[in-house]
Amino acid sequence: MEPIRIALTKGRLERRSVEMFKTIGFDCSEIINKGRRLILPMDNFEVVLAKAADVITYVEHGACDMGIVGKDTIVEKDSTGFYEMCDLGFGKCKFALAAKKGTDFFGGYKQKVVASKYPKVAHKFFEEKGMDVKIIKIEGSVELAPLLSLADAIVDIVETGTTLKENGLEIVEDIMPISARVIVNRASMKLRKEEIENLLSDIELAKEVL
Ligand code: PRP
Repeated sequence: MEPIRIALTKGRLERRSVEMFKTIGFDCSEIINKGRRLILPMDNFEVVLAKAADVITYVEHGACDMGIVGKDTIVEKDSTGFYEMCDLGFGKCKFALAAKKGTDFFGGYKQKVVASKYPKVAHKFFEEKGMDVKIIKIEGSVELAPLLSLADAIVDIVETGTTLKENGLEIVEDIMPISARVIVNRASMKLRKEEIENLLSDIELAKEVL
């Protein structure tokens, strides 16, 4: 049978995911010494390295059986094509609404403009507040938008708060906590149930010592 294929989010979550797999006892040397390779063996598994949103796409379509991805990407993708199985407890940060220090964001009657890399999250947040806000999609360094007067505020990820602080911004309101999650393809969950459940219980044990 084909090995179970696991999609890992490249970058920040990659290091923590590898640490977790090492704790389980898997041989992660190929991933650590990957060079530019994107598909790596790890014991009886195959690990695929992809960008966060693509991890979901590969798992949704069954190109990968499982994935490790941030809750931020899951919420923004707003899809039900996979199972979210467990909270890994790492990659912790939060979504927050932030503006230039001292801004009265909720004051006044003018329609507000909000920049975000996560337009769906931003839209839902303001919809729940019954606020009509214009949302502008930005691809990165969203903190620039209020500084350059493109937007009144941003909806973005805050981890340490350093980026906000060093750019004269502050949190107006917390939106939701974020952490890394394990997602599983719906068909794989049925067809490879035992292998996937075994891995999930290994992950649960590793979480306790991480
Ligand atoms: C994220 C996020 C903030 C920053 C928050 O950006 O969008 O800019 O990290 O971290 P902090 O609270 O610890 O300062 P990332 O570095 O992923 O890059 P990006 O701005 O290009 O999206």
